[in-house]
Amino acid sequence: MNLGTNAWHAMREQPGTFKVEMGVIEVDADFVKTHPDLHGGRYARLSVSDTGCGMDSATVGRVFEAFFTTKAVGEGTGLGLAVVYGIMKTHDGGISVYSHPGEGTTFHLYFPVLENETVAPEIAAAPIPRGQGECIIFVDDETALAGLGKQILDRLGYQVTMVTSAAEALAAIGAQPGQFDLVITDLAMPVMDGIELGRQLLQIQPGLPLILTTGFGGTLTAEKVRELGFCEILRKPSTARTMSEAVHRVLHQTTGMG
Ligand SMILES: Nc1ncnc2c1ncn2[C@@H]1O[C@H](COP(=O)(O)OP(=O)(O)O)[C@@H](O)[C@H]1O
Ligand SMILES: [Mg+2]
Repeated sequence: MNLGTNAWHAMREQPGTFKVEMGVIEVDADFVKTHPDLHGGRYARLSVSDTGCGMDSATVGRVFEAFFTTKAVGEGTGLGLAVVYGIMKTHDGGISVYSHPGEGTTFHLYFPVLENETVAPEIAAAPIPRGQGECIIFVDDETALAGLGKQILDRLGYQVTMVTSAAEALAAIGAQPGQFDLVITDLAMPVMDGIELGRQLLQIQPGLPLILTTGFGGTLTAEKVRELGFCEILRKPSTARTMSEAVHRVLHQTTGMG
């Protein structure tokens, strides 16, 4: 990030080219003479270059010094490249810089390549749980979010009725009590919020599983929403995974909560 910021600062005066390249290079004895931090062997080389203002040799000689900066107070701390240098040291790597005033600058970062085969750990994510036609009402006053919720859950095998107000949700349940397996409702909605909706739904159909979704970090805890009659609180934005896992937990009562 610091290399990118420095390049941007260097090219502020006129448009230019910012380039990031990656390659593998073989370091030999000759190369080590000019790059004493490196040893013979293979390195992954990350190169970051710009066509900005460049530096004179006196500046190049000091760039990795902590607190060396040519920038105004508040613009630069002079710590960026010192930190980059430290990071490369801890990787048993190295860094070099080429620069000419008016032409631009290139930083090469050398990371030693592991010579042993490494076995990539298996990060097979658990499959996203799917539904079997269970009926869900999805309530969100933002049509786009209600639509997204419906789309996600429809694709996962649920049968989703989407509504954009508490009144519509109450009407749907009132018309066919027992028809729905779960209600997912947004918290913050005009006229009637999700908590009041939940309270009224439970009067119509006691035991109806409810999930509350909320976009605010807020003060609502999982415990509080359970006291209010909800099984779970689902933070927005929710993904297909977080949504389907919550739905699955609630429908199969494997909440593991509390
Ligand atoms: N890409 C670059 N082009 C021109 N000068 C640079 C470049 N990167 C770093 N420098 C010079 O090195 C100095 C130190 O950089 P750095 O350690 O990142 O601190 P800072 O950016 O806070 O000044 C900068 O003030 C600038 O003079
Ligand atoms: Mg910087």
